[in-house]
Amino acid sequence: MAPVSSIASHVQQRIADALTAALPEAGAADPLLRRSDRADFQANGILALAKKSKANPRELATQVVEKITAGDLLADIEVSGPGFLNITVSDKAITETLAARYADTDRLGVAPKDKPGITVIDYAQPNVAKEMHVGHLRSAVIGDALRGMLDFTGEQTIGRHHIGDWGTQFGMLIQYLIEHPGELAPAEEVDGEQAMSNLNRVYKASRAVFDSDEEFKERARKRVVALQSGDEETLKLWQQFVDESKVYFYSVFGKLDMEVRDDEIVGESAYNDLMPETARLLEESGVAVRSEGALVVFFDEIRGKDDQPVPLIVQKADGGFGYAASDLSAIRNRVFDLKATNLVYVVDVRQSLHFKMVFETARRAGWLTDEVTAHNMAYGTVLGADGKPFKTREGETVKLEDLLDEAIQRAADVVREKAQDLTEDEIQERAAQVGIGAVKYADLSTSPSRDYKFDLDQMVSLNGDTSVYLQYAYARIQSILRKAGDTRPAAHPELELAPAERALGLHLDAFGETVFEATAEYAPHKVAAYLYQLASLLTKFYDQCPVLKADTPAQVENRLFLVDLTARTLHKGMALLGIRTPERL
Ligand code: ARG
Repeated sequence: MAPVSSIASHVQQRIADALTAALPEAGAADPLLRRSDRADFQANGILALAKKSKANPRELATQVVEKITAGDLLADIEVSGPGFLNITVSDKAITETLAARYADTDRLGVAPKDKPGITVIDYAQPNVAKEMHVGHLRSAVIGDALRGMLDFTGEQTIGRHHIGDWGTQFGMLIQYLIEHPGELAPAEEVDGEQAMSNLNRVYKASRAVFDSDEEFKERARKRVVALQSGDEETLKLWQQFVDESKVYFYSVFGKLDMEVRDDEIVGESAYNDLMPETARLLEESGVAVRSEGALVVFFDEIRGKDDQPVPLIVQKADGGFGYAASDLSAIRNRVFDLKATNLVYVVDVRQSLHFKMVFETARRAGWLTDEVTAHNMAYGTVLGADGKPFKTREGETVKLEDLLDEAIQRAADVVREKAQDLTEDEIQERAAQVGIGAVKYADLSTSPSRDYKFDLDQMVSLNGDTSVYLQYAYARIQSILRKAGDTRPAAHPELELAPAERALGLHLDAFGETVFEATAEYAPHKVAAYLYQLASLLTKFYDQCPVLKADTPAQVENRLFLVDLTARTLHKGMALLGIRTPERL
């Protein structure tokens, strides 16, 4: 389908051309166009230009207006204030542009970018043998949304779920399993819940022996060595922990209505073979130095409490490699083997210092160059209604699955109340879409770096900035389209538009630009804000413009076309964020 350029971009071009004609020495000047309440758009760029060329801004503005070719696009241009331009576009241009978008069911006329890069996105990275917590929820939800947005812009994305599947705790776990065989059922025999409860039991029991029995501790330590040296029996048991955990991860991701591919689960352990070389390269190049037996990297500007430099530890004095070594090795893999041009990490803000040091080390080593961007999309903490980090009443971390189940339950209450004609099965199906959507949207609608309150009552509310409000907007349109029967949506560019139609139409036209901007800034909340505004403009439109009872048959068709395009845009935007839009609610 042919891509459609937005009205804003056409207006921008007309004014820029007129600016150059009126003031050739200005070259390609930016008219600084934005949406405005007074007219459709306002151009503010003339002020700065006039100042630069010592011209009178109002006079320059008037000259610019004289040079503008209005054509079919512009209905009115006036100079206002000290030298702004207020620009009104024609109704015809709005309807024709939207009709072209409507014809492209798939992409709404939004062209993918010319030169896509390769983004490796590190997200949804829980830890083996451990319960997932709300922080892991954020990484999964934000990462999945960002990926949807990147894909839509045409970027090639590769997911990496850097799960915590390595480390000394496995010595303890495996040793315990050797001494208590049969405590973990084979992975193919358990569901997610059983898997996690088995793992939890083994974790707690092994921890208890480890803390109380010195001899066990010693055996566990030896087991770590066996694991690291690739002992077959040890590795087999380690694999069992990983497989069992994956059963659990998949059940949570499934409940989250999120696709996770097995080939993209590439945990810390996957970089084991690279780590000795990573250390050697860093040491040989002098990027890392030996300090008290350990191999470390220092940074002038990063200092701890006592003003002592805080180093990044590449290799411990006992020869072991840790978290940093695996991340540094992962960078080499992602840049040199996967050919990434962008690296994104969706990780808790509490790991920001770690990533700062890792990126800087990789730069010094020459693994990160100007051709590759590295960005930590650091997200804030999930808070309870009391504003403190989210915990159960007993002060324990909340189980992710319980939380999702509760969201679905609350959603079922809302759905049941609204729709009396649904069967219980239908209610449950929609409740899952509404409840999970609510959890995702609440997370995505605030800037990721900010903490946010996990408040289920607010999340499933029908009013305000919630996914339920957006889903209702969508379902209501579907209901109107069903009621329209044989009358089909059709664009009528000859019709005059009401103010609420123009506002809705211009916002619809800005979908692609908004998604591109939000993606470039790694800001899913900007897509959420766009969708919320879209639903709000739709509500205003309903208040002022009857659809099925409009004055003429042509107007009915044109309004059906407008609401249908709104529905498609809502659907597309929500899908980018990983949220469903049920046809009925
Ligand atoms: N598994 C880690 C955690 O739970 C997050 C991993 C983040 N990604 C990375 N490349 N270090 O905290």
